[in-house]
Amino acid sequence: MVDVILGLQWGDEGKGKIVDYFAGNYDIVARFQGGPNAGHTLYQEGKKVVLHQIPSGIFHSGIINLIGSGVVLDPVTFQKECAAVSAMGVDVRKNLLISERTHLILPTHRALDKASEISKGNDKIGSTLKGIGPAYMDKTGRNGLRVGDILNPDFLQLYGSLKEKHQRMLDVYRFSEDITEWENDFFTAVEFIRSFRIISGEYFLHEQLASGKKVLAEGAQGSMLDVDFGTFPFVTSSNTITAGVCSGLGIAPQHIREVIGITKAYCTRVGSGPFPTELHDETGEFIRKAGNEFGSTTGRPRRCGWIDLVALKYACMINGVTSLVMTKADILDELQELKACTSYKIDGRETDQVPFQMHLSDLSPVYKNFSGWNTITSGLQQYSDLPEAMKAYIGFLNAYLKVSVKFISNGPGTDQIIKA
Ligand code: GDP
Ligand code: IMO
Ligand code: MG
Repeated sequence: MVDVILGLQWGDEGKGKIVDYFAGNYDIVARFQGGPNAGHTLYQEGKKVVLHQIPSGIFHSGIINLIGSGVVLDPVTFQKECAAVSAMGVDVRKNLLISERTHLILPTHRALDKASEISKGNDKIGSTLKGIGPAYMDKTGRNGLRVGDILNPDFLQLYGSLKEKHQRMLDVYRFSEDITEWENDFFTAVEFIRSFRIISGEYFLHEQLASGKKVLAEGAQGSMLDVDFGTFPFVTSSNTITAGVCSGLGIAPQHIREVIGITKAYCTRVGSGPFPTELHDETGEFIRKAGNEFGSTTGRPRRCGWIDLVALKYACMINGVTSLVMTKADILDELQELKACTSYKIDGRETDQVPFQMHLSDLSPVYKNFSGWNTITSGLQQYSDLPEAMKAYIGFLNAYLKVSVKFISNGPGTDQIIKA
């Protein structure tokens, strides 16, 4: 069986910590989409680690971690990340496998990402500039190179002809950048990857599932950044939702059992695009400071706001979420009052559905107010010890979403989590 852990908002919900927390119950942890645009934070023996491409089960020595076919892999970032986790005692060549179908991010993909963003001017996506969009475009455009290709004696030639194509596109953008250093690092990193076990991810997983092994699929980004169902065009370029597990790992839907959706107790977004509950006042500033809401990948300040239950209910629906984990509850500890968005007013009409194009609607959130708990909760370990006001907030979420919060995370540490 396969369980899934994914983010239900605009990313950074705490997937790294939660995957690490649950990983011990599984034999394999597999990333199914995204690339180095992700930044998944976890703590290993008190030390902060941010993983971009390596699955968050890597510190569990008995677990296989798989970079699945649906991922786009930047060899340079990968090599750096491997060096960092190896220095912490992980035997990456033993614990980490890469699917041969995983697409490669080339240095020119990163240049194209920049060129595309610059050309959009004020309408820019706010991309992490890691080359994600261009790499996925080459996949669907049937041009891309895959990890399996690095074993082909003609790899250099394949690389050269794709680079040439990219160069022509960069010329159209009138964008030029010296990528010599990136290229040198790229080829060093490709050589490094050749020493890994590059496998057929789909056959591997099917054999494992057939012998009763348990797989945990780790999502990147969040459901509202899904290329099909998110706030398009302000999204990433992959399917971040449960459906992405099937296409990204080659797993049939009937294998999927639990879908664990993660939501913060509030909401954040990094990059451009609509965010109905965004706070531009001192409460927003308070949340950013208290929650240390700065991007794990780019360091950009995250936009902060109240929890958006309309978007969250939509995310539960498209993902088939079976249970919820609410993270960063402790960040709201000092607030006197909280709000949760329960519907949108669009052009004067109230609705509890996410519209086709949020950014083009005259949309304002309708809120329900809650009393804050105004107590420090980060040291608590039992659900029964939680303040009544927090229980009331959670109770409302459960009833509204028709899915229950099963775990409450009350701090960044692995042990700071409470079973409801
Ligand atoms: P991810 O991309 O979903 O893995 O999330 P990030 O790692 O980008 O951002 C989540 C941040 O919140 C990280 O710095 C985590 O260490 C931290 N974090 C996770 N859960 C909690 C929590 O319950 N409370 C607090 N205070 N911090 C948390
Ligand atoms: P994790 O896995 C938050 C956002 C970017 C931008 C948009 C498109 O850590 O939750 P891209 O680089 O994919 O072209 O950027 O998506 N974005 C994320 N926001 N967390 C992430 O990953 C993100 N990955 C991409 O900020 O708005
Ligand atoms: Mg992140």
